[in-house]
Amino acid sequence: MTVLAPQKSLVILISGRGSNLEAMLEANLPGCIACVISNQPQAEGLELARQYGVVTAVVDHRAYATRALFDVALAEEIEQHAPDLVVMAGFMRILGDDFVCRFQGRLFNIHPSLLPAFAGLNSHAKALAAGVKIHGCTVHFVTPALDCGPIVAQVAVPVLDGDDEETLAERVLVQEHRIYPLAVRWFLEGRLTLGGDGRVRLAKAGTGMAETALCSPPG
Ligand code: GRF
Repeated sequence: MTVLAPQKSLVILISGRGSNLEAMLEANLPGCIACVISNQPQAEGLELARQYGVVTAVVDHRAYATRALFDVALAEEIEQHAPDLVVMAGFMRILGDDFVCRFQGRLFNIHPSLLPAFAGLNSHAKALAAGVKIHGCTVHFVTPALDCGPIVAQVAVPVLDGDDEETLAERVLVQEHRIYPLAVRWFLEGRLTLGGDGRVRLAKAGTGMAETALCSPPG
């Protein structure tokens, strides 16, 4: 008799349009999206999730007197779904240390730069101002320091003459939509390990990663 491993599940946190969420919804992930939670009641991504039949919830940060109280309410909402992984996908709130520690090792974020360069807001403007020739995006485990956790995967794109924030953001976003579902897949497949040296290792298998961008790890 074959005993099937129980399906893993994830909760996705959003604040806005949800294009990374849509990439996950379309990715046929080997796990169940248990809930999409937004801190913004009007986030377009909520409607998108509903269209895919995914349960949604709102934890509106404005309803809480302090950041800490919001963090507790958000954590409680997440825990109701007992997810293996929590995925921040355009979630625009900084979460406190207690929250991050509670979910450490099972909390992912994507940042639109090649970290550790250009952490924080306005990463595309910062890249243009610095005159870099290569920019990109990074999927990382979240730790208390902002945009600093162990790196799971990165994709690089060129910065072209004449780029402005919009054109550069668009080029990076295409890669976000490829790499984020891929990194989530790796986690759900149990292929990622976080070493004592703080570095993430990926167990080998075909990744389906196309060759059009510099990508690490290659699979
Ligand atoms: C993405 O660029 C993401 O990296 C950043 O915010 C943007 C969110 O976009 N943190 P979306 O809501 O997934 O479309």
